[in-house]
Amino acid sequence: MSLLEKFAAARQLKSGLGNAGKDPTNVVFERLNSATEGIVNGRETILAGTNNYLGLTFDPACVAAGVEAMQSLGTGTTGSRMANGSYASHGALEADLAEHFQCANAMVFSTGYAANLGVLAALLAKGDAVLLDSDAHASLYDGCRMSDADIYRFKHNDVKSLERRIARLGDRAGRCLIVVEGMYSVLGDCAPLKEIVEIKERYGATLLVDEAHSLGVFGERGCGVAEAQGVLDKVDFIVGTFSKSLGAMGGFCVSNHDVLGLFRYVSRPFMFTASPSPAVMATTREALKQLRTRPELKETLWSNAKLLYRGLEQLGFELGPEISPVVAVRCKDRQTALEQWNQLLEAGVYVNMMLPPATPGGASFLRCSISAAHTPDQISTIIGKFAELNNS
Ligand SMILES: Cc1ncc(COP(=O)(O)O)c(C=O)c1O
Repeated sequence: MSLLEKFAAARQLKSGLGNAGKDPTNVVFERLNSATEGIVNGRETILAGTNNYLGLTFDPACVAAGVEAMQSLGTGTTGSRMANGSYASHGALEADLAEHFQCANAMVFSTGYAANLGVLAALLAKGDAVLLDSDAHASLYDGCRMSDADIYRFKHNDVKSLERRIARLGDRAGRCLIVVEGMYSVLGDCAPLKEIVEIKERYGATLLVDEAHSLGVFGERGCGVAEAQGVLDKVDFIVGTFSKSLGAMGGFCVSNHDVLGLFRYVSRPFMFTASPSPAVMATTREALKQLRTRPELKETLWSNAKLLYRGLEQLGFELGPEISPVVAVRCKDRQTALEQWNQLLEAGVYVNMMLPPATPGGASFLRCSISAAHTPDQISTIIGKFAELNNS
């Protein structure tokens, strides 16, 4: 077998994705008119799958901050912070994050993916154990794999399964990292963090929570599910991204453990990649300010989420277990998902196609993510287009 033959399966996957119309992995937004509307295939389209929870991508203050930073500091940093130095805005954003999460330390990475790789690979070593939720995002899994730690998966959101696994570690429980998400990205369900914290404390373990989808969405200050469940100060490491509710790009980790500061010297995904650009830093700082000062964004997001969830529920669709800004519609099978995704796109509604193996239970979903920027009219249109699917 030649080196390139292994791509046969990927070739087959690619052609299968296009067999019901457009390939969902290759959608082109020809123009964006706002945070919730664009032109796709020459057609006005409502964007209902963007992770743009607070709708800040076109916020005038965020755009102005990005433009000003680019004009005064240039388009990119052209190197890593380790080799090329930091910009003042890197440190300023870290200070903003530490203050926002009321944590002693914060560290910024170039993407959310790099934050997970960088934190997990730095934190874990041979002989350590990781207990990873079975639905955890690929970046968390990849980060664990970058270390030589032993990885054990427990059943999604199942504290009994977690406890069984941690008990089996015996004396090694103290060298165990529990890794979960706040709100999970496919079904929009939340981790039972209070119970997980109780287990981690009882066994002397360490806990990392990825709040990528929950930042700006949960908790009074918008810190995420840990804040909403009253255990923010009990989580050892919180990681997240700027690419969803903050509408920019980049990732972060906050922690009260001072070792976070030492990750700068050992974390390869931090050390060997270019630092986030001045525009990204400025936009993210402004978006964080908006999150702090405009609580109405979160309120509108939640009323929109309820509207969409209730509307689709009434139509009889099988949805994720709880109302949240991620509303996932379960499809009968992969082919139905592909066909219905295409039907929605032709009807002017863009949602995300979620197919196995990246999905819980190997099921196929049409995932909507709702935004504070959606109007009630747009939400009724989305529901109406799903209703037409139901009837076809
Ligand atoms: C739970 C979770 N963590 C991390 C990431 C990676 O974030 P980014 O896309 O900003 O690199 C994602 C992205 O989808 C995610 O869903």
